[in-house]
Amino acid sequence: MWQQRIRLSSLHNKVMPAEQAVQFIQAGMTIGMSGFTRAGDSKAIPIALAAKAATQGPLNLTLFTGASLGNNSDGLMAESNVLARRSPFQVDATMRRAINQGKVLFYDQHLSELAEHLRAEPGKPIDVAVIEAVAITEDGHIVPSTSVGNSASFVAQAKQVIVELNTAMPAELEGFHDVYLPKKRPGRAPIPLTSVNQRLGTNAIAVDPERIVAIVLTDTLDSPSTATPPDSETQSIAQHIVRFLENEVAEGRLDHSLLPLQVGIGSIANAVTQGLVESDFKDLTMYSEVLQDSAFHLLESGQLRFASASSITVTAPMMQHFFSHLDQYRDRIVLRPQEISNHPEIVRRLGIIAINAALEFDLYGNVNSTHVSGTKMMNGIGGSGDFARNAHLSIFVTKSLAKGGAISRVVPMVSHVDHCEHDVDILVTEQGLADLRGLAPRERAELVIQNCVHPDYQAALQDYFERACQRGGHTPHLLEEALSWHLRFEEHGSMHQQETAKA
Ligand code: COA
Repeated sequence: MWQQRIRLSSLHNKVMPAEQAVQFIQAGMTIGMSGFTRAGDSKAIPIALAAKAATQGPLNLTLFTGASLGNNSDGLMAESNVLARRSPFQVDATMRRAINQGKVLFYDQHLSELAEHLRAEPGKPIDVAVIEAVAITEDGHIVPSTSVGNSASFVAQAKQVIVELNTAMPAELEGFHDVYLPKKRPGRAPIPLTSVNQRLGTNAIAVDPERIVAIVLTDTLDSPSTATPPDSETQSIAQHIVRFLENEVAEGRLDHSLLPLQVGIGSIANAVTQGLVESDFKDLTMYSEVLQDSAFHLLESGQLRFASASSITVTAPMMQHFFSHLDQYRDRIVLRPQEISNHPEIVRRLGIIAINAALEFDLYGNVNSTHVSGTKMMNGIGGSGDFARNAHLSIFVTKSLAKGGAISRVVPMVSHVDHCEHDVDILVTEQGLADLRGLAPRERAELVIQNCVHPDYQAALQDYFERACQRGGHTPHLLEEALSWHLRFEEHGSMHQQETAKA
């Protein structure tokens, strides 16, 4: 019964269909929508916006979210003339195409920073915030669903708020969230979080109920996680990391509970966390932005004591398991605004071990997470930069090859830099691990060639490095050749020199 979930009864008359609610959204507006890694996203408004654009013409909206949306919403809005601009993250193939064709202008931003930018621009408010909720409290405050993301910041800035009340999600999710936003600068006090399980704020997003202009009822679950199960290569990557961390413990640099873990999105990250289930580490904690299936496996095994994140993105069976065991997890999980889950101040204070995936990395430890062949946007930097620069240990993982071996993901020079050599401590492929801490560029290159590159490309990379060293420099390069591997792939479909010769 939706009436029981809207505990401020004066809001009951705001319930209306999505087609009616989108009357509040006009062409050219700036919209802030809930949703983070497909969790807790608006389910009905994107569909209604696509229908509105079909009858009324292009809407040219600027759309901010937490991170990626599920339910093909990004793709639908990209192909239906709903959007002119998008930020800060997406993972949708249709949206990606629109971005790379220049049809949707994408502002790729660190996930912790969007809220800060909005706060710093009081003259540019969000016109309408669209927020998924599982309940509205007696005060009219909004109880989010499976993510918090940027929702509290959007509501704080928005002139008008549309709530999507999702009755497919249990109302008992109330209590999992901790809504706290930093104050304006200057004169801001430190964020008072010193341990992962600490609560700083409220269970719901505060809002003057007068600003809630519409409530749309939905009953659709989040799109399930698309992370594929571990394969032999991702398992090898996980094993290299577990062995490395065991050695850190043996050397006395970490103890068996390590330090709070952040694990990025995707299959490799999921496999790495899964690898910890088979390890001897105990009393672990997570301070991450997304909880995937593997985090629940660790919670189940008892090795993970507490998990803090901004969203829960899991497979359909795991979501059912979570929903039917909420009380079991209530004291072990907290969902925070992404500004807090990813805040550099807290990442540095807690000493996070950050594990994120790369598209490619180079001899000297520079990492490309976003741009295929240096130009085409993949997803966005997401939270990887929030964590990598400030982490106790910044680990980047990737398979050594892509496209059936036609691409080496270890290259002479990355075609785009998201994480520079100064922000990267450890590089890992299925071939092995390179611990770059304290090493000069020439030392790093030797280790990367020896431990990380696929044997098919090892001789070519060694040859490049030796010839670059002959020319000299602190970070030796042959500038005319540095991106030749990428060019060869563009022109001949392979980075292999011998296949190029054949072509
Ligand atoms: N050049 C060209 N294509 C490449 C490539 C390269 N160097 N490396 C990978 N690809 C292709 C793969 O072939 C694959 O294509 P396919 O789907 O057609 O097979 C695709 O890119 C994805 O590669 P995969 O290895 O499966 O990626 P992933 O799921 O491990 O994701 C990132 C890797 C970098 C794209 C992803 O982690 C990401 O978006 N990171 C940035 C955001 C982030 O780190 N957030 C962390 C905090 S949550």
